[in-house]
Amino acid sequence: MSWEENPSERQAFRRRVKAWYAKHGRLLPWRATDDPYRIWISEVMLQQTTVAAVIPYFERFVAAFPNVESLADAEEEAVLRHWEGLGYYSRARNLRKAAQAIVGDFGGEFPRSVRELESLPGIGRYTAGAIASFAFGVRAPIVEANTERLYARLIALDEPTQSTAGKKRLWKFAEAILPRSAVGDFNQALMDLGSQICRPTDPACDDCPVQPHCAAHRQSRVADYPRPKPRATLTDVTEAAVVLRHIGKVLLRQRPADERWTGLWDFPRFELANCGWLPKLSGDPQPVLPGLLPPIEEGVRELVGASVSIDRWWAEIRHGVTRYRIRLLCFGADVDEAVAAAVTNDAASDAPPLRWVDSAAAGELPLTRTARQLADLVFRESGHG
Ligand code: ADE
Repeated sequence: MSWEENPSERQAFRRRVKAWYAKHGRLLPWRATDDPYRIWISEVMLQQTTVAAVIPYFERFVAAFPNVESLADAEEEAVLRHWEGLGYYSRARNLRKAAQAIVGDFGGEFPRSVRELESLPGIGRYTAGAIASFAFGVRAPIVEANTERLYARLIALDEPTQSTAGKKRLWKFAEAILPRSAVGDFNQALMDLGSQICRPTDPACDDCPVQPHCAAHRQSRVADYPRPKPRATLTDVTEAAVVLRHIGKVLLRQRPADERWTGLWDFPRFELANCGWLPKLSGDPQPVLPGLLPPIEEGVRELVGASVSIDRWWAEIRHGVTRYRIRLLCFGADVDEAVAAAVTNDAASDAPPLRWVDSAAAGELPLTRTARQLADLVFRESGHG
């Protein structure tokens, strides 16, 4: 029998968790409330981002969109602007869509059941359980990154946490340990225990209130759990971004639905095939790499419909996105009036929008992280920053 099936052991576990939380629980901005809207926003932000990084975003977001109605009425671009830098932008688009569904289908009232919450865009089992238990006291279990690690150690889970069998066991455990009342506080306590004590590396087992219940600790194998998941193999990709400049303005392109970072603005950007051999670039590459420029000029022509001559090098930016390790080579071309006029949008076309922006206008738009880096570099150099 697993220990969580034993009522007295379960009770001792809950008592220890609650006593620890009363003393060590963190006062986070979204905990001082039972407003489901604030809880929802914070939990979605926390899905892929740390507490410290989320706090300033959370404060700005709820100041700009203080309730479901204001979020449902907001322009997508305004919502993305408040999300810029957090990554995983479908989270922001789904927040707005879910707000519209709450207003349209639920009369503006947050649904209270896990099942109804899970029907909303971007709300999975964890987020539904968090909203239902924190805001409404529903007896719903949670499993997210911190609790997943804590539970995996408590029960010495041998399956990988992402496997079907592993997930099933973790949710079953989360359900079994729930108290009858004050479920929200209990769930928050488990998350804090996971993040503060049962840390990924260097867990503070000596300070852990539930050490007597920990199977991994009993076996002196805390470091072996959770089982490491198989490493994703990374793929190297080389891409080019081109800064087209015309009297203090640069050309930005809004990324369409079939590209990553949908809805965000970026410099014209595309993959460069067969460039894995390139050495790290710095200085002016034109004399060094003459063969590189024609495919880049062709890429610009395909994206914006104008012929340009690359005339400078800006920077190399390295970054990672999901399983891709990307080298972004940033080039520039100053263009004349005729070229600038040639890239205005044809209203009848369904090609992604293009816009000439100065530094102030770029500041208003939601940009990809690398586009913001590059725009800051360009406007700083041109003295418009
Ligand atoms: N991680 C995800 N949700 C959290 C919360 N409500 N408090 C602390 N860490 C979290």
